[in-house]
Amino acid sequence: MKQENPFLITGYQSPEFFCDRKKEIELLKSYAQDSMHTALFSSRRLGKTALIYHLMYHLRKEKIKCMYFDLMPTTSIEDFAYHFAKSFFNQRASISQKYLHKINQMLKAFVPSLAVDPATGQLSFEFKLNKAEEIYNDIEVIFDIIKKSKEKYLIALDEFQQILNYPAQNFEGFLRTHIQFMKNASFIFSGSKKHLLLSIFGDYSKPLWQSCAFIELKPIDKIIYSDFIQNKFKIFGRTIENPALDFIYDSTRGITYFVQLFCNFLFKETNGKINLETSKKTLDKIVTERESYFINLLELLTQKQIDVLTAISIENGIDKPLGNKFISKHKLGAASTVKSVLDVLVNKEIINHDNGKYHVADVLLSVWLKGRKGY
Ligand SMILES: Nc1ncnc2c1ncn2[C@@H]1O[C@H](COP(=O)(O)OP(=O)(O)OP(=O)(O)O)[C@@H](O)[C@H]1O
Ligand SMILES: [Mg+2]
Repeated sequence: MKQENPFLITGYQSPEFFCDRKKEIELLKSYAQDSMHTALFSSRRLGKTALIYHLMYHLRKEKIKCMYFDLMPTTSIEDFAYHFAKSFFNQRASISQKYLHKINQMLKAFVPSLAVDPATGQLSFEFKLNKAEEIYNDIEVIFDIIKKSKEKYLIALDEFQQILNYPAQNFEGFLRTHIQFMKNASFIFSGSKKHLLLSIFGDYSKPLWQSCAFIELKPIDKIIYSDFIQNKFKIFGRTIENPALDFIYDSTRGITYFVQLFCNFLFKETNGKINLETSKKTLDKIVTERESYFINLLELLTQKQIDVLTAISIENGIDKPLGNKFISKHKLGAASTVKSVLDVLVNKEIINHDNGKYHVADVLLSVWLKGRKGY
């Protein structure tokens, strides 16, 4: 019989598959109870979205209404309102003809209708934009329903920096006006573009300045993560040696997604005892599977960019990429050129600049680039 893999690499299932984040959950739970707002950020794939789902799992038990909303596909306030209305009315209400009639009377921009999923027969509300000029009215309608409700709400707006791409300039001001009068709702604004989120919440000339607390997600502690991994293997009758655990965490820099992916593969590929050697072989396999993708990626880069990426990979990250030592060791040429290459790669998010160190964001690409040079 096929065993369920305990290392998830997409989405969220239940607390059983979720490692740690206890402090963050406690804090976010207390903010939800006090209707305080949070800007939650971290570099990519550290677990922001899964943390929000984990929080919602707990808050629903405390009878707090939870709404998750991913802004990534939205490019305008009209899009925002459409997705917001869809997730709000479909997650919240009983979906019926009677409620459809009620929504229809409240909304001015959208015309709601009932849609039937042909596969499951399940009903949902669908919305068609009719009067774009009334879009703010319809968002206010939803905020008003929340305000008047006796229940507490948690509203998570993931990839919130997306609002900076909306053509309309006044959305932040509009949100601030409403959020400050919602005494029963806690908002989480999350995203991976730290500088953009800071420009929204940390700039005193902006409407949302000082409207929320900041939480920056860091990698899960090595000992806690290693214990989690060891226990999951143990449940399935496997053992994993300490050097292998060290290797998993260190080679992935503790980035949640890569740790999960590595362990997911180890679980699939190995039986019985897992040691350093089996772990190294598994990492090779993961990297080799992505080889054609990496080759394609390099074709989109200049030779100088590839050289800088390779040098950073060989160094396992670098704090002073413009220093003589690094530049001459890797024969990178003029510091000014390295600087402009770095700027481009950081901008494209191929390189991360976190806690004073530059790293190749994709740890598997980094391992592959090193391997090409025999490291
Ligand atoms: N605490 C955790 N324990 C176990 N797995 C986790 C944990 N947090 C996240 N994951 C897993 O790691 C992967 C990446 O997490 P997630 O998508 O939440 O990161 P993210 O920070 O939202 O990424 P992005 O910046 O790309 O939006 C997911 O597959 C998720 O299942
Ligand atoms: Mg996410």
